[in-house]
Amino acid sequence: MTKVLFVCLGNICRSPMAEAIFRHKVMSSDLDQDFHIESAGTGDWHVGENPDPRTIKVLYANRVMKFSRAQQLKSSDFDTFDYIVAMDVANIRDINGWERAQPNKVSLMSSWNPKATKIEVPDPYYGDQSDFEDVFKMLDEATEEMLTKLKN
Ligand code: 4NP
Repeated sequence: MTKVLFVCLGNICRSPMAEAIFRHKVMSSDLDQDFHIESAGTGDWHVGENPDPRTIKVLYANRVMKFSRAQQLKSSDFDTFDYIVAMDVANIRDINGWERAQPNKVSLMSSWNPKATKIEVPDPYYGDQSDFEDVFKMLDEATEEMLTKLKN
């Protein structure tokens, strides 16, 4: 069982989108028994909420129907998960400043994608729907590469 936690700031835009896309790929490959997938935010503002409506819109448009409510990163996540995947450099700094952090488990989403043209998945929260579509494309590509690496 490989355990993957995607992390961003608010856990309503980028990381729940990454979680939903990656789970969709895992289920389409009949690998759901092999993976445990969650997402979390470093911030606590949106705990318990559904993803941003713009996140849900772009997921539905791409036939990804299942998503999770927001939760905040917690110290036990460093023991639970094998891979903690951050969206941007500020997330990495925040995660590694957590009590009982395990920096060896923490990576940047773009580092999984050899074809990535950007280091960071930009925060679309203050943008518009086209920013969410750009984020979807980045995450779709990066999680595809991730699944290829982790399924072997
Ligand atoms: P996310 O976007 O980190 O991709 O979920 C954000 C969502 C909410 C906030 C910041 C970023 N916020 O400040 O409430």
